[in-house]
Amino acid sequence: MPEKKVTAAAAAGKRFAELRRRSDEAEAGGGAERREREHKAGKLTARERIHLLLDEGTFEELDKFVRHQCADFGMEEQRPSGDGFVTGFGRIEGRLVYAFAQDFTVFGGSLSESNAQKICKIMDLAMRSGTPVIGLNDSGGARIQEGVRSLAGYADIFLRNTLASGVVPQISAILGPCAGGAVYSPAITDFIFMTRENSYMFVTGPDVIKTVTHEEVTKQELGGAMTHNEKSGVAHFVSRDDADCCAMIRELMSFLPSNNMEDPPRRATGDSPSRREESLNSLVPEDPLKPYDIKDAIHAIVDEGYFFEVHEHFAKNVVVGFARLDGNPVGIVANQPAFLAGVLDINASVKGARFVRFCDAFNIPLITFEDVPGFLPGTQQEFGGIIRHGAKLLFAFAEATVPKVTIITRKAYGGAYCVMASKHIRTDANFAWPTAEIAVMGPEGAVNIVYKRELDKAPEGEREKLRQEKIAEFRERFANPFIAAERGYVDAIIEPAETRAKIITSLKALENKKDVNPRKKHGNIPL
Ligand code: HXC
Repeated sequence: MPEKKVTAAAAAGKRFAELRRRSDEAEAGGGAERREREHKAGKLTARERIHLLLDEGTFEELDKFVRHQCADFGMEEQRPSGDGFVTGFGRIEGRLVYAFAQDFTVFGGSLSESNAQKICKIMDLAMRSGTPVIGLNDSGGARIQEGVRSLAGYADIFLRNTLASGVVPQISAILGPCAGGAVYSPAITDFIFMTRENSYMFVTGPDVIKTVTHEEVTKQELGGAMTHNEKSGVAHFVSRDDADCCAMIRELMSFLPSNNMEDPPRRATGDSPSRREESLNSLVPEDPLKPYDIKDAIHAIVDEGYFFEVHEHFAKNVVVGFARLDGNPVGIVANQPAFLAGVLDINASVKGARFVRFCDAFNIPLITFEDVPGFLPGTQQEFGGIIRHGAKLLFAFAEATVPKVTIITRKAYGGAYCVMASKHIRTDANFAWPTAEIAVMGPEGAVNIVYKRELDKAPEGEREKLRQEKIAEFRERFANPFIAAERGYVDAIIEPAETRAKIITSLKALENKKDVNPRKKHGNIPL
């Protein structure tokens, strides 16, 4: 073989070897020892997570050879390929998604300038192609050695999260630490998943809190999965472990369109659209003060009884989540009489509003089940701004232009009647069960106000009897669905058993619905 060819072949061979070396280096992450430590703690590595998240063999990695550019604090000696972040695209049930995963074994998953650029690159590609973005977070935050360059990287990501909001679904999983300003990228995204044992999120950690406020709190208490699922409402889902989390994300994706220009994906069902559900006829107790579980109604009505609940542990007085009706995804918002009598308070209002806005942004029809005694009274609620927060839910339902269907199962009292997707705020189909009570307030409260003088004047021995008579009279005359139906505020009073068929028929009639809001830069939802 001529000498020139031998040299060229040798050079190519060297390049191939170098490619393999760099690729292996990226895949090795922080090495076997650190990997072992993560496994012992019940965590998977970034690559293992990506493979669980995506359809087998579909992951295409980008920027595997990117390295950090830091030359301070001895960092120039450690410049592994990939710099710890794994970014790229793949498929979930055949549909394209972009994804990134932070590898805690490499500099604690910290965000370098280069890593930020890797994330920004896939976010830009996702926006150009109308593709969801899923982030698997496990990071010590800003790469300390890079200082402001790392902070700038975060800000570049925050901007993209904001611009992508309402354009493509963005999903965050917290699978390890997520602290400091780093929490704000997940916070801007649409849904946050956390693993029960190994994840935590906080703006300032236990040590800083101890110094500043002298409070002692563990990382888990401060920012663990249940703290954010139950108390703060920052997170929407809690999963057992990394594998469970990836499976739940895949499940959530099955309800979502890829972007705001598409309809959500249909899934064929054997469940008849006209199926009657006789159990619903006896679901609402005769005693209006007795609770029942609205989830029983939801399960009975939706396809195959399958309801994917969102924010299950937070503000349980309102229930939100996804289901399918005749194969088409819908978003369900329901007052929950089994918890705090289904009253609307600050947390329930915010929870409902955020979910309504998500569904509206992504063309998912809204089904509302209403049984609400009103807004929760009390100084705590008033001082906390129930006016402002309750207005969020009102605003969200009113601005939503997706098909909207409401079923009043029992109480629709006061402002809450207006708020919960009433006819007056552009709901397309409003139904009431015969058990519905639609009035300014409950009979007890109404009688105490309207008949106050009469009751005060009545001899003490007869006062209670008179009150009960007036309550019964009020209930008979006003607390029913017929007055609203006479005015067309509800389109029909239906037998509960036929609710599934009625909703599906309504949604079919709304298939080509086009409604728009006035042109504006954006509304000013009361934040
Ligand atoms: C560089 C980091 C790092 C960071 C961890 N490491 N955090 N390297 N920058 N931010 C490295 C460690 O040096 C260590 O390297 C490895 O990752 C694992 O860290 P450990 O501390 O050994 O792990 P663990 O005990 O599990 O503790 C995890 C941790 C802790 C709680 C996350 O590392 C920690 O407190 N890190 C700093 C967190 C922080 O304050 N970040 C800045 C937040 S402010 P070796 O080589 O030993 O394996 C912020 C601002 C964002 O992020 C602003 C956006 C606007």
